[in-house]
Amino acid sequence: GAAHNWPSVVQVKEGLTRRDVLVPSRTSYPCGGRAQCTLTRSPGVQCFLRHVGATGVSDHSGLYKFSVNESDRFWGAVARQRLSWISPFHTVQNCDFSQGKIKWFEGGKLNVSVNCLDRHVQTCPERVALIWERDEPGTEVKITYRQLLELTCRLGNLLKRQGVRRGDCVTIYMPPCPLAMASMLACARIGAAHNVVFAGFSSEALADRIRDAQSSTVITVNQGVRGGKVVDLKRTVDQAVQNCPTVQQVLVAMRTENTVPMTDRDVPLEEEMMKEDVVCEPVAMDSEDVLFLLYTSGSTGKPKGLVHTQAGYLLYTSLTHRYVFNYHDGDVFGCVADIGWITGHSYIVYGPLCNGGTTVLFESTPVYPNPGRYWEMVERLGINQFYGAPTAIRLLLKYGDEWVQNYNRSSLKTLGSVGEPINTEAWEWYHRVVGDGRCPVVDTWWQTETGGICIAPRPADPEAEIVPGMAMHPFYGIKPALLDTEVGEVLSSNDSTGALCISQAWPGMARTIHNHHQRFTETYFHPYPGFFFTGDGAHRSKEGYYQIIGRLDDVINVSGHRLGTAELEDVVIYLMVEEDVLAQQLREMVSRSIAKYACPDFIQVVRCLPKTRSGKIMRRVLRKVVERNTDELGDLSTLDDPDSVHEVIRGHRRLRGDGKQQ
Ligand code: WTA
Repeated sequence: GAAHNWPSVVQVKEGLTRRDVLVPSRTSYPCGGRAQCTLTRSPGVQCFLRHVGATGVSDHSGLYKFSVNESDRFWGAVARQRLSWISPFHTVQNCDFSQGKIKWFEGGKLNVSVNCLDRHVQTCPERVALIWERDEPGTEVKITYRQLLELTCRLGNLLKRQGVRRGDCVTIYMPPCPLAMASMLACARIGAAHNVVFAGFSSEALADRIRDAQSSTVITVNQGVRGGKVVDLKRTVDQAVQNCPTVQQVLVAMRTENTVPMTDRDVPLEEEMMKEDVVCEPVAMDSEDVLFLLYTSGSTGKPKGLVHTQAGYLLYTSLTHRYVFNYHDGDVFGCVADIGWITGHSYIVYGPLCNGGTTVLFESTPVYPNPGRYWEMVERLGINQFYGAPTAIRLLLKYGDEWVQNYNRSSLKTLGSVGEPINTEAWEWYHRVVGDGRCPVVDTWWQTETGGICIAPRPADPEAEIVPGMAMHPFYGIKPALLDTEVGEVLSSNDSTGALCISQAWPGMARTIHNHHQRFTETYFHPYPGFFFTGDGAHRSKEGYYQIIGRLDDVINVSGHRLGTAELEDVVIYLMVEEDVLAQQLREMVSRSIAKYACPDFIQVVRCLPKTRSGKIMRRVLRKVVERNTDELGDLSTLDDPDSVHEVIRGHRRLRGDGKQQ
C-alpha cells in the first residue's frame, strides 16, 4: 500500500525567519503598489466602473462596450488597479495580428510570484492559500500564504543553486501537490519559465516536450497516488531523460515514503530545499518575458508549445476568476482540473492566488473511492465555486442522484464547466441536482491559446437568463466575430453560424508557439486576416448568445448543411440498447432531432473512443481511419488508451469490408 503522508516539507516551520515579507518597490500609481486583499471584496460593477474610469456607464452592457471600444483605457486602469508593479508600463498594448505581434504593458516590470504571494502575506499571512485535497478523502492539507511563500522561496533558491537562470525553462512533471504549485511560482520568482507536463503522459510525450523546451532541469516526484493506485512517475522521467541530452538534473520530491532508485543526476528535493534560505529576492520581470510554455496536441499531431507571458496573462486570469465565478474574498474555489492543463494553470494557480483566494488542489478522481467524491469534498471543504469538466459530469450522472444528495452542498454558489460542449442533459443535471436549482451554471468557453475564459454566461446584468449549454456572452475586452468559412466574410446578423474568431487582442492571449512563430501566425492569424481564429465553430442565436459547436475541422458537411459533432452527440450520447437495434435507433433519433440529411450512412460500434487524458475525443485520428490514412495518425502518445485506436481500425475494416450499409 502507499504511504499517504507527505514528509517534512509541508510541516514548514512557523513563520519566515529573516524578513517577514518581501515588498516590491512602490510604483507611481495611486493604488498599484498597495497590497490588495481587497481585490475580491469590491461590491461589483459600480466599484469596478469607478476604478476603470468609465464615466456615464451604469450597467453591465455599458461596461462591456467600454471595455471593447476603449480597450486601452479599460485594460490600463484594470492593470494599475489589480497588479503590483515594480515599475509602471508606458504602453497598454502594441499588437498587430498580421504579424502575430502581441505585446501588453510594455515598459512595466513586475514579479508574478510577488503578486500571487507576498502582497497577501503582507495583509493576511495566515489565510489559507491552498487546500491540497489528497487522494484519500479526509486527509487534506491546508497551506497558508505565509507557508506557500516560504516553500516558493526555498525552491527558488534551490533552483538557483542548481544553476537555473532567468530565461531558462524548467519542466515540471508532477501530480497536483503543493510542491508542484510552489515549483511553478519559484520559476516565476527567479525569472525562469515553466513547462508543466501532465503527469499522466507517457515517457515519449514527456521527452518530446522536454526536448522542445530545451530544459536542463526537471522537477518530479518519486511516485504519484491517484484513485488508490501508486504510479511510478520517477521511472517515467528516467526513461524520458535518456533521450533528452539537455537535462542535467532531476529534482525529486517524495510524495510517498517508498524509495526509488536515484542517480547522480537526481537531487532529493525536500532535503536540499530545507537547506535553503526562506527569503528569495524576486526578479523584476518585463511584462512580456515568458512566464510559461504549455504544450497542446496540435491537429497535425505535433504538439505546440504555446507561450504565455507575465503581466497580461496574470491580469486576465485574475479578472476572469473574479467576475465569471463571482469569486469573493473568503470563498473556497474548487477547480478539479489537473495543473497539467491550462485550466489548472489559470484557475487553480494564477487567477485565484493573484486574487488572494483560497484554492483547492485536487489529487484524486471523480469516482474515488466512490461517485460521491466531489460532493463529499464540497461538503467537507465548504467549496463555494465548483469548476469541472462535462466528461466528469456525464460520468457521474450515470451513477444517479443519490451520490449527490447524500452530501450537503449548501456552500455552493456557482458551478462551472469547461473543456468541451456540455450537452443539455448534463447541464440540466448539474444545475438541478448538484446545484439544487439555485446556482448559476457557467459554461465557460476558452482555450490554451486564450489564456483565460473568453465566453461565459457571467458576468452579465444581475438576474440575466442563462440558457443551458450555451457559453453566451463575451468577457470584458473580448470582441467575438463569426466568419463565413467559404468566403471569409464577417457574418454580422444574429442567428448565424460560422468560424469563431476574435477581432481584437486581449491581455491573456498566447504570444507565440515556442520556436515556431511562423506556425503561430499561420495557424491563428492567416485563415481570416485581421482576426484571431480559434479553430472552433459557433452559432450566434437570435438573441445574440454564442453557442460553441466544436472544432471546425470536426464539423461534418452534408449537402451544404454543417453539423457540429457536439450537436450530433447531444442527441445520441445516452442511448443504451442492444447492438443490433442500435444503428436503427440512432438514425431515427438523429432524423427526428436534427434532420434526415444528418443521418449517418455507417454506424460503427466501439468499446471506447480514442480519448486524451483530459477526456477529449481525438477526432483527427477517427478522420484518418475513415479516410483510410492509418499511416498518418500522428502523435498518439497523449492518448489515454492507445489500443482503442487499433480496435477502431479493425472495426472499421470489418464494417467497410462488408461493402454494405449496416
Ligand atoms: C473546447 C481548455 C465547448 C473547444 C480550456 C476549445 C469548449 C478547446 C468549451 C480548447 C466549452 C473548451 N464549450 N467547447 N465551454 N471549452 N472547449 O486548449 O473546442 O484544452 O477550442 O483548453 O476545447 O481546449 P484546451
